[in-house]
Amino acid sequence: MAVLGSKVPALEGPDLCGRDVLTLHDFTPAEVTALVESALAWKQAGRNARSKPLAGRSVALLFLKPSTRTRVAFEVAVAALGGHPVCLQGGEMQLARGETIGDTGRVLSQLVDAVVIRAFGHRDVEELAAAASVPVINGLTDLLHPSQALADVLTLRERFGRLAGLKVSYVGDGSNVCHSLCFAAAKCGFELRVAGPAQYQPAEEVLSAARADARATGGAIHVLADAREAVSGVDAVYTDTWVSMGFESGADARRRALEPYRVDEGLMALAAPHAVFMHDLPAHRGEEVTDAVMDGPASVVFTQAGNRLHAAKALLASVV
Ligand code: CP
Ligand code: NVA
Repeated sequence: MAVLGSKVPALEGPDLCGRDVLTLHDFTPAEVTALVESALAWKQAGRNARSKPLAGRSVALLFLKPSTRTRVAFEVAVAALGGHPVCLQGGEMQLARGETIGDTGRVLSQLVDAVVIRAFGHRDVEELAAAASVPVINGLTDLLHPSQALADVLTLRERFGRLAGLKVSYVGDGSNVCHSLCFAAAKCGFELRVAGPAQYQPAEEVLSAARADARATGGAIHVLADAREAVSGVDAVYTDTWVSMGFESGADARRRALEPYRVDEGLMALAAPHAVFMHDLPAHRGEEVTDAVMDGPASVVFTQAGNRLHAAKALLASVV
């Protein structure tokens, strides 16, 4: 079982030098726990941190779809760690004129020390990582969002002082964010209850892999249809947009099916009295969450957004 102590470890965190970060599934519970503790240490050190593990290094930040938090968090993190961020938009690269993702990975490996990539297809990120000789960090694909999940567990760890044994409910679309949260629960030993309509529940391949991981930690992932049952007594209620980037063609059907899964004050009232509300953002106010919950006393969504920076530092300092 992954148990988090109160000791603050070295800022640099676990030695994962050269490893790709495509999914939390690839890391042991001890490695994920050490990344969370490292993120916490970076947060506590704040701007006073003298450690510059990326001094003299460059990191390409390649975004093939929009981003506010991930892009800014990684750019600021690279600079704060003493490195040089190289920000790249897909549309202005030769990728847009047909250069393959593999060749892009081979070329970037000659020029920079790591690549953070946000892409539509998870296969594209796997292909880039297979071709690259430098570490590749997944900055979101259609399937997974591991750097978000790391910031999410940092937020829970800060709030509750532990992760093992917590009860978290994820309500809505079984998205990339939901998938990475399944792996986070499995690696960190907490219970995740996912509620959504049958056609938008998390992918079976993710559930079976995460459930297998959870056997080592005492974590659990349950999938339910009823949001009220899923949130009953939990420590945190989490939701994500109903229409993820790349899924716009099914937007109307999604909004209709997900309507009963909006997080409002009535739903939050069924969680534990101390429960927090979480969202990876951007939020679509009035769709998956009401203003009253977003702006209410239980909401930790902006702390969560700020924690993206500390999670990014922990990842970069560990793998580059
Ligand atoms: N949560 C998140 O990844 O936000 P961005 O799309 O703004 O990066
Ligand atoms: N599930 C959302 C997350 C955005 C950060 C999407 O992929 O659009």
